[in-house]
Amino acid sequence: MELTDQVALITGGTAGIGLEAARLFVREGATVIISGRNAERGAAAVADIGDGPGSVRFVAADLADLQSVGALAEQAGPVDILVNNAAAFPVATTVDQSIAAFQQMFDTNVRGTFFLTAAVAPAMLAKGAGSIVNVTTMAASMGVPGASGYSATKAALASFTRTWAAEFSPSGVRVNSVAPGPTITEGVLVEWGDGVAELGKGLPLRRTAEPTEIAEAILFLASPRSSYVTGSTLAVDGGATAI
Ligand SMILES: NC(=O)c1ccc[n+]([C@@H]2O[C@H](COP(=O)([O-])OP(=O)(O)OC[C@H]3O[C@@H](n4cnc5c(N)ncnc54)[C@H](OP(=O)(O)O)[C@@H]3O)[C@@H](O)[C@H]2O)c1
Repeated sequence: MELTDQVALITGGTAGIGLEAARLFVREGATVIISGRNAERGAAAVADIGDGPGSVRFVAADLADLQSVGALAEQAGPVDILVNNAAAFPVATTVDQSIAAFQQMFDTNVRGTFFLTAAVAPAMLAKGAGSIVNVTTMAASMGVPGASGYSATKAALASFTRTWAAEFSPSGVRVNSVAPGPTITEGVLVEWGDGVAELGKGLPLRRTAEPTEIAEAILFLASPRSSYVTGSTLAVDGGATAI
């Protein structure tokens, strides 16, 4: 097992990619904390994952609310692995973008993620070890119609990845990103509907991803297997950004 004795916090670990990452981490022996806003969904995810060899518990938190972000860091306690996965991704073309949805994206994906990391990192730095994995998107480095605000939030996260790698890696804390392509999750189907399958058809691999295919990349970057990798972005996008 690759994550024995490791404590991991996975934001948005109650559905989609985060849920599959939590499942893999528990299988690898980690003590996992998953977060999300909806407590019922959290309880269902904990029951679905089950215990063994590691364990999983849920902490309710809204990343768009800074008080809630602080409380999450406190309730999680010191962690060895932080997966910044929770995000808002409402679809809107630039001319149709509502201010409220724009704000929700930046509050959740940028501000919440930034201050959660700032709260969690000191314990890793004091320990001299840790791994932070940011979940971005292929759209952070491509023009995808309807995703301008969202893509910009993830481009900010890609920038954080580089800066945090520069700031934290000298103290033994690695920071990397996984940049997924279109992946079939509950959330993306609600927001993008059939559009996500269409996006998949245009890729070199000619299909969308399963959440577990993204989770495997998160596990790789979180685990000691990637011990000499920091500041990098692993594209898990069916070849989207290669063409
Ligand atoms: N699916 C794709 O095609 C795709 C492609 C590229 C990148 N990504 C990225 O992959 C990550 C996961 O996406 P997904 O498709 O797995 O999403 P998902 O199925 O919609 O799950 C999102 C998770 O985040 C939580 N969440 C959402 N807003 C939150 C908030 N304000 N505070 C706390 N938790 C929040 C949700 O729980 P609650 O709703 O209960 O809060 C849920 O656990 C995101 O960062 C997304 O941008 C996804």
